[in-house]
Amino acid sequence: MNRILKISILSAALLLSLNALAQPRRLSADLPKWEGVADTPQMGWSSWNCFMTDINEDLIKATADAMVELGLVDAGYVYLNLDDGWHGERDANGFVLEDREKFPSGMKALADYLHAKGLKLGIYSDAGDFTCACYTGSRGHEYQDAITYAYWGVDYLKYDWCFTTNVNAKGAYTLMRNALRKAGRPILFSICEWGVNKPWEWAQEVGHSWRTTGDIGPAFAPVPVSYDEQGRRRWKPMSVLEIIDINEPLRQYAGPGHWNDPDMLEVGNSATVDGVFYDMTEGEDRAHFTMWCMMAAPLILGNDLTKITPETLAIITNKEMIAVDQDPLGIQGLRTKNEDGLQYWFKPLADGAWAFCVMNTREEDVTISLDWSELEVNDALSKRRTGFGSTNYSVQDIWHPEAKAFPTLVKGKGILRNQFVINTRQVTVPSHDVVAYRLTPIK
Ligand code: GLA
Repeated sequence: MNRILKISILSAALLLSLNALAQPRRLSADLPKWEGVADTPQMGWSSWNCFMTDINEDLIKATADAMVELGLVDAGYVYLNLDDGWHGERDANGFVLEDREKFPSGMKALADYLHAKGLKLGIYSDAGDFTCACYTGSRGHEYQDAITYAYWGVDYLKYDWCFTTNVNAKGAYTLMRNALRKAGRPILFSICEWGVNKPWEWAQEVGHSWRTTGDIGPAFAPVPVSYDEQGRRRWKPMSVLEIIDINEPLRQYAGPGHWNDPDMLEVGNSATVDGVFYDMTEGEDRAHFTMWCMMAAPLILGNDLTKITPETLAIITNKEMIAVDQDPLGIQGLRTKNEDGLQYWFKPLADGAWAFCVMNTREEDVTISLDWSELEVNDALSKRRTGFGSTNYSVQDIWHPEAKAFPTLVKGKGILRNQFVINTRQVTVPSHDVVAYRLTPIK
């Protein structure tokens, strides 16, 4: 090789390496979250609300069997999520193990069992050193844990926020998102930091849902503050009504693939916390379920499915109500009126339809007059308006399909066209309960 050619090659190589040095170095590549796993809010069951850490293989298998036999899988509840308390130790290389006393066949076998039944397996971990119930957390083991979950056949990860002093939330959740993507198995990523770092502002690209509040309990209305013998304020769960007030103003952040999560359902549950007994009536359960559907919330059941009552089953399998939650537009509903203990809600649905409901938070039944001309909705967020003055709707009573609360009007000429609009009806909303309707435009 002649000298000049040699010098030119060397200079080119030097230039290339200088150029490489000038580029900012990416220490770890950001990877996108998995797409297509939460186009509508996720539906399933979780062990926490009823069983806390008292979980084991027999219980989970019995729950899986019940989910199939009760028709819950057919209704859309496909995730069976283990919450806190499944972890064993880490092995010598730092890989997490399941607790073999609770899950003698192991997590992979459990995933196989669920998959064979048309279910998917959800699991739980924490961005800190420990989970909230003090099992091993994922901090410093994110990629190892993601690989382990993928190997086991996990489909869903709820990632909690205990023991995270000085941890940056967006960074920690992004790290686990990257790890889950790198591990190669589509996994729904459920962010659970209780809304303390405003995840709705940054988590759209990070996870598929984010908790907006503290932990729910089976209480409809706020429970009074109580104190222990030392005068310390006792922890108390959040009630359905408190959670609704926090979650409602966040509707602009929700949409297909990224949902506000007002916590798991308490339908059919009761609990004793610090000596205080919590329970909800059938009407309160119905109102709770309706509101979660109106808010396009994840529907994660939390009751003992092996002891379910027909009333609870009827609530959680109401097809029309579930369809409101699962509507493909994915628009979180809005509260249009909140007066004298009555809340009016609308949710824009696909094909020009709407869900409409009234919740009565008062201690007595209330009979209201529904005058459609006064209920007109013009929703700036979805750019949808009900147009009650010009559109005829058929009205379907979601909780009482047999009741003909409203005549179903066929689009007619002149007077008939407007009859629906001016039609007022008396409707009784029982105390702590709802009435809910689907309004379908008549073409
Ligand atoms: C936190 C979460 C709950 C549950 C527990 C488990 O409190 O918010 O939903 O997962 O941890 O310890």
